[in-house]
Amino acid sequence: MKFDGAGIAIVGSGSATPQAVVRNDDLSQLVDTSDEWIRARTGIRNRHLLGENSSLSELAAMAASKAIAAADISPEAIDLVLLATSTPDDLFGSAAKVQALIGAKNAVAFDLTAACSGFVFGLVTAAQYLRTGAFQNIVVIGADVLSRWVDWGDRNTCVLFGDGAGAVVCQRSSQDQLLGFEMYSDGSRNDCLNLSYQEKPKYLINDVSIQKGDYQAISMNGREVYRFAVAKVPEVVEKTLFRANLTAADVDWLVLHQANQRIIDAVAKRLKLPAEKVIANLHEYGNTSAASIPLALDEAVIAGKIKTGDLVVTSGFGAGLSWGSAIFRWGTVD
Ligand code: COA
Repeated sequence: MKFDGAGIAIVGSGSATPQAVVRNDDLSQLVDTSDEWIRARTGIRNRHLLGENSSLSELAAMAASKAIAAADISPEAIDLVLLATSTPDDLFGSAAKVQALIGAKNAVAFDLTAACSGFVFGLVTAAQYLRTGAFQNIVVIGADVLSRWVDWGDRNTCVLFGDGAGAVVCQRSSQDQLLGFEMYSDGSRNDCLNLSYQEKPKYLINDVSIQKGDYQAISMNGREVYRFAVAKVPEVVEKTLFRANLTAADVDWLVLHQANQRIIDAVAKRLKLPAEKVIANLHEYGNTSAASIPLALDEAVIAGKIKTGDLVVTSGFGAGLSWGSAIFRWGTVD
């Protein structure tokens, strides 16, 4: 989608990950697996897990504060704290807690739930407020603590996920740096990957019964999700590039949701992008859901790889099912 008025610039990034590192070998104490299997099938070596006495809100706030500092603005200048997460501390939402922790006292705050597509959907949502002129500065955070919801006895899922947070500051700008986006959902395939509520009826009074259930651990059909990702991600990226009048040759960096190295490699191959243009850090963090794209982006910015003006292609995909892509130039470009 093109836009000719005022637009959005993505001007600072930050990230935070828990200190505790769990290696593949450590997991073989919990389930029948091996470092060799996990590396070969996923590319993952380590994951960072959030311990007790910490919260999703604190991790998200750390990433947001760093992004705000990198953008060289004060927390009071933030108009909106948009927290993409599927693992809030509070089902009413955790964004307001983050708002308080980072001192963004003039900001409104809300959560957005779109699993591993959450950051891309959040970025696009932020762009709408900036393009209409409703807001000047927005911090978009992707943060998840999936370790809370993983069945640590299920080898099909427990080897894949880790915890983390990443954030970017988006600013209203006369030059629109968000060059294109596409977003999709297919709820008919929700059973491929979910963290669903299971009701347990409780009789309250007379004929009235209510639900007193609980959320179940992550359930996933790995092969189906794999097939979905390698089919839909290249398609959505190609469509987004096409609609923005760009080609794969224009791309400086591919920053995909970090789910599996084989998925990243397959997508890069389909797009004919060389490995040097592909950002990947899932060997260290595993799949951190909504956090994975801003976490990988921030590390690439800090490493001096992604520079002002570079064309960055992102794509998030996962539960919903949901998938999307956003293409932007990094930084303030005149
Ligand atoms: N360690 C050892 N063996 C394992 C294992 C583990 N952690 N997990 C599964 N296996 C076994 C399976 O039981 C199966 O054994 P079987 O052949 O005796 O039944 C065998 O390994 C192959 O399983 P399969 O599911 O075919 O492996 P795969 O090559 O498809 O890889 C995934 C499995 C999960 C790594 C892969 O399907 C995947 O990455 N899917 C996408 C998942 C994803 O990214 N989800 C999040 C999206 S946001």
